[in-house]
Amino acid sequence: MIPSIEWVNQNNRSIVKMIDQTVLPHELKFLELSDYRDVAKSIKVMNIRGAPAIGVAAAMGMALAALEYKNLSKDDFLKKMKDAAKTIRMTRPTASNLFWALNRILEVVDKSIGTVNEICEEVVEEAILMAQEDIIVNKNIGKHGAELIKDGETILTHCNAGSLATVQYGTALAPIRTAIEQGKKISVIADETRPRLQGARLTAFELNYDNIPVKVISDTSSGLLMKLGKINKIIVGTDRVTSDAVFNKIGTYLVALAAKDNNIPFYVAAPTSTLSLEETIDDVEIEQREDSEVSCVLGKIRIVPEGVECLNYAFDITTFELVTGIITEDGVFTAEKLLEKYRK
Ligand code: MRU
Repeated sequence: MIPSIEWVNQNNRSIVKMIDQTVLPHELKFLELSDYRDVAKSIKVMNIRGAPAIGVAAAMGMALAALEYKNLSKDDFLKKMKDAAKTIRMTRPTASNLFWALNRILEVVDKSIGTVNEICEEVVEEAILMAQEDIIVNKNIGKHGAELIKDGETILTHCNAGSLATVQYGTALAPIRTAIEQGKKISVIADETRPRLQGARLTAFELNYDNIPVKVISDTSSGLLMKLGKINKIIVGTDRVTSDAVFNKIGTYLVALAAKDNNIPFYVAAPTSTLSLEETIDDVEIEQREDSEVSCVLGKIRIVPEGVECLNYAFDITTFELVTGIITEDGVFTAEKLLEKYRK
């Protein structure tokens, strides 16, 4: 897959180039943004989405802000950088990576003893480094996760935690990609993922693009397919892991319940940037998006009677007893071992 987001220097200016995921799979279109406010908007309206990709977009947004303010006095620069972080922070509340990335950039700003120009360079370098690190982390998740996958298996995934949800390679799809690179014959079943259809539009697009066998099912079919023995394992991504649960796209919890009932291993791929182990379930805000995402299919065809309200929670909570293992860039852990290793 092509990177979902890149920092590009062209014609003496820097831009953030990203795939516009709202028009996939019909169009492979790129957005070129040079204002951090537009990056914030692109996160909010989900031109770019998926926890790790959101994190990198936030960091690159901060780098654009640094370039915009590089002629200010140091005091004004620092104030403007904090304001930019606030704008980007307001976009989506659930994925840890957004806050993790902003904090990492603000730490660079706060710790630097350089001139404004030097801080600006450091911020741009940090954002580029974060994008590079993302790919390395994903390849390591792939390496550890592939050990769980046997030749001939069919893996179910929910939403899109693939290349498009990261800079490249993906988290939940990384073990599948690596297993295939190792010569294993693997196929994927992708839940369509109502209401934004990330499974149908994005997971199917990127796997098909890379010639990885994929079939799309309606969200309500996964339980039956598990019962019929057509699914060997489940691997999903996550937006935040707290000390007691995994937060991921709405519908994940029901998949995990069905997996438990059918004795099918349920794995969560989680880069350490997604871990928020000092928090518990109660600390997390679950994003609620517009009613129209549920009442209309892809914002176009209304399927709910006028005047009837919809509830549109974007994420749900899967507590640890339903999770077989969590795959990070360092290995595969039970929830207990994960807490032992990473909780400060
Ligand atoms: O609303 P989205 O599309 O940003 O939600 C994405 C997910 O829920 C992914 O599973 C999660 O961010 C992990 S992506 C590697």
